[in-house]
Amino acid sequence: FTYTAIVPAAGVGSRMAADRPKQYLTLAGSTVLEQTLMRLLEHPAIGQIIVATAEQDPWFSQLLLARHPRILRVNGGRERADSVLNALQEVETGQVLVHDAARPCLRRADLDAVMTAGLHPQGAILASRVRDTMKRGNGQGAIATSVSRDELWHALTPQCFATASLQQALTEALAAGATITDEASAMEWAGFHPQLVEGRSDNIKITRPEDLALAGFFLQQS
Ligand code: C5P
Repeated sequence: FTYTAIVPAAGVGSRMAADRPKQYLTLAGSTVLEQTLMRLLEHPAIGQIIVATAEQDPWFSQLLLARHPRILRVNGGRERADSVLNALQEVETGQVLVHDAARPCLRRADLDAVMTAGLHPQGAILASRVRDTMKRGNGQGAIATSVSRDELWHALTPQCFATASLQQALTEALAAGATITDEASAMEWAGFHPQLVEGRSDNIKITRPEDLALAGFFLQQS
């Protein structure tokens, strides 16, 4: 295998207002996390999938996929970057993918594209172009200025990098106290310019309650 996939799933997802983290909500006969894991398991170049969950997480062990031979669970950390770093310690391949637990609608063509582009030394991420007009607020609920959307992208996942580069970038960025909300931001901090691979906009991150119905609809489309 050339690739390992890391799935950070140690967050609480407070915007869902549910009784459990969003990755454990029901979707298409299983759960959000299992749907996400199936998209990765289906790919022949991905060997191990490492899921980082909270140490006291009572839900993961109840999943059917929890005992899958290619799935390994590790403890997450304080922030997403800590969770990814913990998982990176178990990676044995030269290339690694990081994919949000809450993005179950990933398509094979997008996965292929980011895996290929990620072989570039700078790495690569799936992204989609911003389609709405963008405004910067003035801090008082009104518009300060319009922001050109020409070079604005939504950062999606998977994000794909050389394992050693990502490990070094995350370690150094965390030690420096940099703000890291995705893996590419750690790479940027280290001076890399990951490729933007234009992906489908239905690769949504389940964030609000209405997103579950939308994801169910997207999963039904072939
Ligand atoms: O909240 P948000 O959707 O941005 O979280 C992104 C991902 O990072 C989620 O999949 C969440 O489970 C994960 N995460 C983590 N460890 C943390 C915090 C968040 O794995 N300490």
